Amino acid sequence: MKIGILTSGGDCPGLNAVIRGAVLKGITVYGHEFVGFLDGWRGVVEADIIDLPRTAIRGIAKQGGTILGTSRTNPFDNGGGPEVIKAHLDRLGIDAIIAIGGEGTLAAAKRLSDAGLKIVGVPKTVDNDLDATDYTFGFDTAVQIATEAIDRLRTTGESHHRCMIAEVMGRHAGWIALHAGMAACAHAILIPEQKIGIEQIVQWAKGAHSRGRAPLIVVAEGFVPEHMESPHSERGLDAFGRPRLGGIADQLAPEIEARTGIETRATILGHIQRGGVPSAFDRVLATRLGMAAIDSVVDGCWGTMVALKGTEIDHVSFAEALGKLKAVPQRRYEEAALLFG
Ligand code: F6P
Repeated sequence: MKIGILTSGGDCPGLNAVIRGAVLKGITVYGHEFVGFLDGWRGVVEADIIDLPRTAIRGIAKQGGTILGTSRTNPFDNGGGPEVIKAHLDRLGIDAIIAIGGEGTLAAAKRLSDAGLKIVGVPKTVDNDLDATDYTFGFDTAVQIATEAIDRLRTTGESHHRCMIAEVMGRHAGWIALHAGMAACAHAILIPEQKIGIEQIVQWAKGAHSRGRAPLIVVAEGFVPEHMESPHSERGLDAFGRPRLGGIADQLAPEIEARTGIETRATILGHIQRGGVPSAFDRVLATRLGMAAIDSVVDGCWGTMVALKGTEIDHVSFAEALGKLKAVPQRRYEEAALLFG
């Protein structure tokens, strides 16, 4: 078989490990041939491919980013769609596609699969917000990076007796904020799932300050304080028409400073959380998912994605997997909140 692989949507650490796992197992166990589509669905729509022999994936499991490039291209736009793509695949002799991506990528993969294309998916998001899999690769690395950064903010905050706010990624779900905040022993964690008023945040900051601590607050980019209707966005829309988030920490900092009298600084970690080498956990998870994706292709499990269930890799249909957000459960937030202030 000849199999095409693509990485689509926002990148995250571990993408290359998935590619390596799939290609290496596909070549050594099944004798398959591989190509890579460049820049996600763009490469599929424009039939822009590179060969992926064994030498192309040598040593890439520990590399950040993706050797194939990525984009937020919708395969149904710009002259795409199932007919055009099928014609490209027939002409190039490609039998099946492995699509590595998040909700948007997998939703497009489902539509193409429903139209008869042979596609399997590998879920990806640093936000860890896909319900059908216990963890997504990239999340562990993002939490490590955020935790280290927040630890650093703590020491400078303590030196200057300031309140420090760290903003992390998390559009719909606050998993990175919850885990990094808990790991770094934050005095408050603010996530999209929980509407919290500024007075409560101020109370937590004052509580820490009254014990001689520099208040440390971790906020997810998608957090909506009680006085706001929707997440803070000042950067327009992304290619999928979603508001680009980022900047809620800058909004909160002057409010907290004015109400507490504590000098307050905000730091937005942004894409630093998605760059660089994957953690060992993410390399292992991504490699296993890539290997399992090849088994799905061999078994003809079209329209499914691989998923981590406990410690085992399983597969679930796109229909079952999509549209279900894995939000931080109330009990997990309450557990963390016992230690705030
Ligand atoms: O979906 C993952 C994510 O990292 C979100 O947390 C964030 O809002 C978004 O991607 C950023 O996307 P971009 O790289 O297009 O700015």
